[in-house]
Amino acid sequence: MREKHRDRDRRLPAGGSFAFRAHVALVGPMGAGKTTVGRLMSEQLALAFLDTDERIEVLAGMSVGLIFERSGEAAFRAMERDLLEALPAEPPSVIAAGGGLTAQPGNPERLRAVARTVFLDASPVELLARLGEAARRERPMVKGSSDPEARLQELLEARRESYQRAADARIFTDGMAPMEIAARAIELLKEVP
Ligand code: S3P
Repeated sequence: MREKHRDRDRRLPAGGSFAFRAHVALVGPMGAGKTTVGRLMSEQLALAFLDTDERIEVLAGMSVGLIFERSGEAAFRAMERDLLEALPAEPPSVIAAGGGLTAQPGNPERLRAVARTVFLDASPVELLARLGEAARRERPMVKGSSDPEARLQELLEARRESYQRAADARIFTDGMAPMEIAARAIELLKEVP
């Protein structure tokens, strides 16, 4: 009997409830742990893993930093949007969304249409500690800032509403280890219809 039910679930028609919001996505600021936690979740859920920055780097053949330098932020945001629009054709994946992706008009809605989403929240102090010296120097949105903590705070405040709009659930991650965050995110996602 149980086997029968499992077969029935597997055969749900494409475009039906199985295809609806097939992806799981993590949103939040840089340093929140989206990539590390996303990889852990993809292993636990046996889903593919898609980091939007990494995918864009592969497609563009250069680092995010170089894209910003050579083509500007607007070109990078257009690539993020193209990637979002291509998500329905991707296999169900855990997606780590770049920290500025939800801040572009329409993107929170685009993401929520295809993914159940968790906002990984953290304090600017924690974000700064997780990013570390090297990463802080490389990230286009904070590099060159004389006060990276204040810059992170400013970005977080400006984008908080967009993270919340994109998300079905939120975890305040200060003091939590990646495994703990992944487990909590999976728990919360199970409650999302
Ligand atoms: C950005 C965050 C980065 C990357 C780019 C811009 C931002 O992603 O997309 O440097 O605007 O906050 P992570 O959040 O994965 O670091």
